[in-house]
This record gives sequence, C-alpha cells and structure tokens, in this order.
Amino acid sequence: MDRVKTGITGLDDILSGGIPRNQVMLLTGTAGTGKTIFCSQFIHAGLKAHKEPGVYLTFEEPAEYIKENVKEFGFDFSPYEKAGTFAFIKYDPYRAEDVLEALESTIREVGAKRVVIDSVSALALHIRDEEELRRIVFNMSVMLRKLKCTAILVSEIVAGSHGISRYGVEEFVSDSVVVLYYERHQSTFSRALQVWKLRGSTHSKKLHPYEVGDHGITVNPYEEAFVKD
Ligand SMILES: Nc1ncnc2c1ncn2[C@@H]1O[C@H](COP(=O)(O)OP(=O)(O)OP(=O)(O)O)[C@@H](O)[C@H]1O
Ligand SMILES: [Mg+2]
Repeated sequence: MDRVKTGITGLDDILSGGIPRNQVMLLTGTAGTGKTIFCSQFIHAGLKAHKEPGVYLTFEEPAEYIKENVKEFGFDFSPYEKAGTFAFIKYDPYRAEDVLEALESTIREVGAKRVVIDSVSALALHIRDEEELRRIVFNMSVMLRKLKCTAILVSEIVAGSHGISRYGVEEFVSDSVVVLYYERHQSTFSRALQVWKLRGSTHSKKLHPYEVGDHGITVNPYEEAFVKD
C-alpha cells in the first residue's frame, strides 16, 4: 500500500508507515488539542520534503492568522504560495453552496496532492441545516477521492461527549480516524493521540502521548499515555 508520510515525528510508526494514499482521514479532538498545528505540519511536510502541492481550506480562522501562528514552528507557507504550489482558501460564509466548487478549482490549479479541511464544525456554523451539511461533507469526500488527494478532515468534539464526531457524517465519510485528547490525569493535564481506525491497514491500538514543541507535534510511538506506574 502506498503511504503518505505525515511529517509528524512518531505518527507514521503508529500508522504502519503513514496515511494510505488517496484516503480521507478524520482528525478529531476537543478545542486547543493542536488540530490546526497537526494539519499545517502535514501540508508543510508535503511541500518541503515530498514536493507535493497542497491546499488548506479554513472556515474559522483567517488564513493570515494561521500562517503567522504556525511560522513559529518553522512552517512557512509564503514561498510555496508564491511558487503556486500551495493555497489557503478562506471560506466566505455567504457563498456556502460554492465551497465545493472553490475547493475543486483550487485543488486543480495548484495540482494539490494533500488537502486539509479545517473544520467541519466551523462549516456547520454557517450551514445550519444538518442535512445540507452532511450532503456537503459527503460530496467533499467524493471529490477529494476523485481528484486523488490525501486529505485530513478536521472535526471538533465537545469536551465530555462520548462520540468521535459531532454530526455523525465525518467518520462515515472518512477512511481513518485519529483522535486527540487533552485530559487531566491526577494533577496534570496530558496530551494523547489514538488511531481509531485505518482502512485496509494494521495500526497501533494504543493511546500514545504527544507534545506540541518548537518544531510542532511529536508523538511517542513507544509509550502509552495515562498508564499508572
Ligand atoms: N509555541 C507553542 N508551544 C507549545 N504549545 C503551543 C504553542 N503554540 C500553541 N501551543 C498549543 O497548541 C494549542 C493550539 O493548537 P491548535 O490551534 O492547533 O489547536 P486546535 O485543536 O486547532 O484548536 P481549535 O479547536 O481552537 O481550532 C494551544 O492550546 C497550545 O496548548
Ligand atoms: Mg484549529
């Protein structure tokens, strides 16, 4: 199976080599778990290490804001934007029904191999009708496969809830699911990551600790999180 290296240290080990090419991965977690950093790292690694063009569709934060924030981890998108191999798309809430069209034309323009949709939860703020939202997310996944992209779909889970997605459609349209946790364990908060499913492949079933450090996200593939000594 052909794999796409995520650029996230330790994660590819857990995924048995990376995200299977042309698949859609759901990245879910509560607020502030590092989903946007994770996605920026994935796109940046594609551009820098693999010469794979990328597209980042953002619904909540302005592109400029994300760009500035992730620069401190060493993810500078400007040269790739200038070279035409990378594009941010900032969603315009008044053009909800055009989002698929805008995404498809940008993917074709830059020849994107890696795509991020950040996030379904923010898209839902603009598209209040859940049926319509499901239709858009479903059609988005169909289009990403048709265009042979490897994609990350971000969804936020509400703290304390049990599901891994908010609208029920996200995991249904995704081939794999990665969940990020930020939980209190005794007196400290810890971050942990788990692969819930990975279509057509084996993967670690464990809950692994991860960190947000100077160079972005690092996962420890050898240790288990929240295990008492
Ligand atoms: N320079 C840094 N060093 C270490 N950790 C950082 C740094 N900058 C941000 N963080 C951590 O990353 C988190 C934010 O990451 P990010 O924006 O990717 O989260 P998110 O899951 O996308 O959040 P949201 O749900 O709000 O979209 C912060 O809560 C903070 O804990
Ligand atoms: Mg975010």
